[in-house]
Amino acid sequence: MSKVLSKTVSESAIEGHVYKVFPNDLNAHGTAFGGMIMAKCDRLSLVVAERHSSHVCVTASVDSIHFMAPAKENDTLLFKISVNRAWSSSMEIGVKVEAENSYTGENKHILSAYFTFVALDKNNKPASVPSLIAESKLQEKRFQQASIRRQARLKTIEELKKYE
Ligand SMILES: CC(C)(COP(=O)(O)OP(=O)(O)OC[C@H]1O[C@@H](n2cnc3c(N)ncnc32)[C@H](O)[C@@H]1OP(=O)(O)O)[C@@H](O)C(=O)NCCC(=O)NCCS
Repeated sequence: MSKVLSKTVSESAIEGHVYKVFPNDLNAHGTAFGGMIMAKCDRLSLVVAERHSSHVCVTASVDSIHFMAPAKENDTLLFKISVNRAWSSSMEIGVKVEAENSYTGENKHILSAYFTFVALDKNNKPASVPSLIAESKLQEKRFQQASIRRQARLKTIEELKKYE
């Protein structure tokens, strides 16, 4: 089978994943538990990375995760997740979560994050991934900005290795 050399953003993106916040999802403050939301973001981003790469992937880093506003009991969380850029074996996945009040239609932006996943081959070594085709001006902007974030990540990795 011939290897796919490039894929569009929409081929792997998640646009309409929803999750209803029930009482067992709340923290002691009575709002949606951040760890629950982060775990969902990681799991769904993994799906996007594996769709794009067609390989098993692992989370390499989460370099930015911002909780912009709390979600409440009975809110519906909406997950929007897509590949921002793909390099040799790694991919930056952009995540946006909104909380919708399904009765009033009110919608607020609650989280933004960037996850990096690495595709692995059968020997658990980094595997090459298809390049990314941006299909809109917004996707092009994300594509360009991802390289700035990658430089910062690589610098951080270098720093951390000094403590090994
Ligand atoms: C991520 C991992 C596979 C990278 O392996 P490695 O031997 O360091 O691989 P390399 O140095 O050759 O780097 C491979 C790619 O990963 C990227 N990478 C490695 N560490 C990274 C990090 N901390 N953040 C972002 N990207 C990283 C490199 O930039 C490189 O990208 P490129 O091929 O697109 O240029 C390895 O560090 C690992 O297994 N980490 C643990 C993953 C894990 O357990 N996650 C939680 C459970 S899913």
